[in-house]
Amino acid sequence: MTRALPAPVVDGIPFARAGREELRAEVAGLVAAGEVDRARVLLLADTDDWWTEPPPPAEQLARVPAAGTLREAMALLGMGRVADYFAHRWSDPTHLAGLALLQQHWPGSRPVVDVACGIGTQLRELARRGCTGLVGVDVVWAKLWLARRFVCPGARYVCVDATAVPGTAVPGLDVPRPAYVLCSDAFYFLRDKPAAAAALHALAGPGGTVVVGHAHVTDPAGEPLTPEGYAAVLGTDLLYDDDELTRALLAGRPPRPAAPADLHGSEAVALVAGDPLRPAPADLGTPLPPLRPNPLYVDGVRTWPSARYGAEYGPRSGYLPERWPDPLPPDAARRRLLVDLPEAW
Ligand SMILES: C[S@@+](CC[C@H](N)C(=O)[O-])C[C@H]1O[C@@H](n2cnc3c(N)ncnc32)[C@H](O)[C@@H]1O
Repeated sequence: MTRALPAPVVDGIPFARAGREELRAEVAGLVAAGEVDRARVLLLADTDDWWTEPPPPAEQLARVPAAGTLREAMALLGMGRVADYFAHRWSDPTHLAGLALLQQHWPGSRPVVDVACGIGTQLRELARRGCTGLVGVDVVWAKLWLARRFVCPGARYVCVDATAVPGTAVPGLDVPRPAYVLCSDAFYFLRDKPAAAAALHALAGPGGTVVVGHAHVTDPAGEPLTPEGYAAVLGTDLLYDDDELTRALLAGRPPRPAAPADLHGSEAVALVAGDPLRPAPADLGTPLPPLRPNPLYVDGVRTWPSARYGAEYGPRSGYLPERWPDPLPPDAARRRLLVDLPEAW
């Protein structure tokens, strides 16, 4: 039997991360004493197990709530390469692949739980396209704080470890079933894959949908499985090659599923388990206005935020030309020359 975990709530985001019992107790004590600013600083310093940098000084973290933009807040949080990733998520090929997956398997009126949601990039897209009942889950409280403050304020957020979600016992995770459970660019990070898959299916409930995007195969980051390994642990045979998803979104056509045996050379795959639902009524290939010039272009030249970013995404970003085209092509928005950045990007 599971029981509700006591989880202190700061800025509307419960902190129920397993394995952080001391921090939870300390934060709960500070909240009870009315010391919310100190509690927030402690939570903003907490990172995931893969992060190798020390947290910034407490005085710096205390300035995060006053940041006027997403990027300023991420700089104060000392997020480094992860800040580059999130700041430019709106045009990277992995994000386009994720949109193609949503396009083909649309949640419609189902409640959505985005597991390992990061700063809520997909939740923002879903909210802007009319989806409701959105919940974002991540193990890093600071990322949820950024999501709520800058990216998708309309969703609810809960800080938990996705491999330790005890069904509906965590406050905020008692969503109506069947639900649509999304896990994008993160499943390969979850060390206990059977526990993670069980948690995703438990959140979705009978008749629900589990969508796992960009699960690494040949990309060695995280702890990847083979396509067959992912298919077995998630209990599905509906798989896609991630590059195919990106290409499909850019071409405005449905993506072609593939057999696991044909996906061994893929950098990453996507999987859909349970009810595959139906395609979205709208075209997610075209971002919603207001659109702004892609900030990757500096003085008309495509400029990666770091060599690491360029090495990871450059080879798959052929839709972004090296130089800003003038005049803009008719498909400038589809190719993400124009992007739908959050208002306070
Ligand atoms: C590469 S980011 C992807 C974020 C988001 N899904 C996206 O597509 O933009 C991976 C995310 O997984 C989260 N994460 C890693 N381990 C986790 C765990 N055990 N439970 C929940 N989230 C986790 C990280 O904090 C990070 O936000």
